[in-house]
Amino acid sequence: MGMYAPGYYLDLKTLAEVRGIPFEKFRSGLGQQEMAVTPPDEDAVTMGAAAALEALEGIPPASIDTIMFATESGIDQSKAAALYLHRLIGLSPTCKAFELKQACCSSTMALLMATSLVKDSPDRRVLVVASDVARYDTASPGEPTQGAGAIAFLVSADPRLLVLDTAVGSHTEDVMDFWRPNYRETACVDGKYSIRVYLHTLGKSWKRYEKAGGYPFEDINYFCYHLPFTNMGSKAHASLAKIAGHDHLAPRALRRAVLPGLIYNRRIGNTYTASLYLSLLSLLDHAPPGLAGGRVALFSYGSGSMGAFFSGRVMPSYRRQLDPRRHKRILSRRIQLTIEAYHDMRDYALPCDGSTIKTPRCTTGPFRLAGIAEHKRIYESTATANVTPDVLRHGLSGRVCAV
Ligand code: HMG
Repeated sequence: MGMYAPGYYLDLKTLAEVRGIPFEKFRSGLGQQEMAVTPPDEDAVTMGAAAALEALEGIPPASIDTIMFATESGIDQSKAAALYLHRLIGLSPTCKAFELKQACCSSTMALLMATSLVKDSPDRRVLVVASDVARYDTASPGEPTQGAGAIAFLVSADPRLLVLDTAVGSHTEDVMDFWRPNYRETACVDGKYSIRVYLHTLGKSWKRYEKAGGYPFEDINYFCYHLPFTNMGSKAHASLAKIAGHDHLAPRALRRAVLPGLIYNRRIGNTYTASLYLSLLSLLDHAPPGLAGGRVALFSYGSGSMGAFFSGRVMPSYRRQLDPRRHKRILSRRIQLTIEAYHDMRDYALPCDGSTIKTPRCTTGPFRLAGIAEHKRIYESTATANVTPDVLRHGLSGRVCAV
């Protein structure tokens, strides 16, 4: 598994001050502290490629049979984002590459599809990449629930982190709780309704997971949820405990089962398709000793809407496969933005008329969107270009960028 978060963030204290909202609403009401902000030379492709690089460490790229790219921040109506990664991370011409969409849930559909491919041919290795930029209108209730980031993971017959159980419970319904028409940069959302649909979908999916032979609530050690904001996970867990007949559990016991899975998401924000798997990584990096051999349940929710509840057993040697210090470094080395720089980064627009533009060098990651020419996006590796990001020298509009 690999993760990536942009090198820039906005402290929600800054946002609260500017919007005239008590910070406590964001901190304890939503459970969010900071949100990642993408600079002009990053998008779902560059973030996904960076996460894939970590997931493939020590694994020959030529051994990957299929790459599936799950996103709702697609950059092209026709060409799959997976094809850009195919070149950037050096996959083989025999590796199949495509993109999936169903809001935040498509990464889970990719995982389930990947397990079928692997069951069919156990020597296959499938790379799943989930990468997104969550964006709502400025000063809207959704604004503090933005974020950006990517997770990539490898699915194989020889898992090193988690062995998936066979039971899956899912629920699908055509509703309008959250959507983004092709002509909009920001999502449309009926916020309170979306929370109700999320919880309804969770209940239905759990019942079907139980019916399919899933593990009882009390046999599951930790729960990871799709986290548009981390309090959604706490709300979901309290609701599930009630449905599963465990409403007698003390709030402390409920919190213990979700808390380690909230740590990265509190500081990165919503990452749509990557959110659930960022929570899983947060759990694997932060759970107290004893997680090995334990059971983890996962609930994936994608607006529109579809949900899936499933579970897995953590491999005894899972710790050897992860590098929590690297993940903490990704967060600790980020640059805190001023509110002006946050707006400049949000408002930066690529040309839509075929003209040529070079993007300012901002990213601190391994890949960047160098520019656009004749409607073609140009990606490059930053490995050899160790220069100070333009944005730190000049800001985006000549204004001070970092706090
Ligand atoms: P809102 O109207 O700003 O907030 O919208 P609120 O008034 O409901 O307050 C939020 C919480 O803060 C409440 O807690 C308040 O009590 C509390 P709750 O009652 O829910 O436990 N609060 C305070 N706490 C401490 N001190 C204070 C204070 N004031 C209030 N002073 C909403 C919140 C989440 C609706 C909004 O941010 C939004 O629309 N977000 C985007 C949509 C979203 O995240 N929906 C979640 C489910 S849908 C989903 O997960 C799918 C998604 O990821 C997309 C996809 O699938 O692709 C979004």
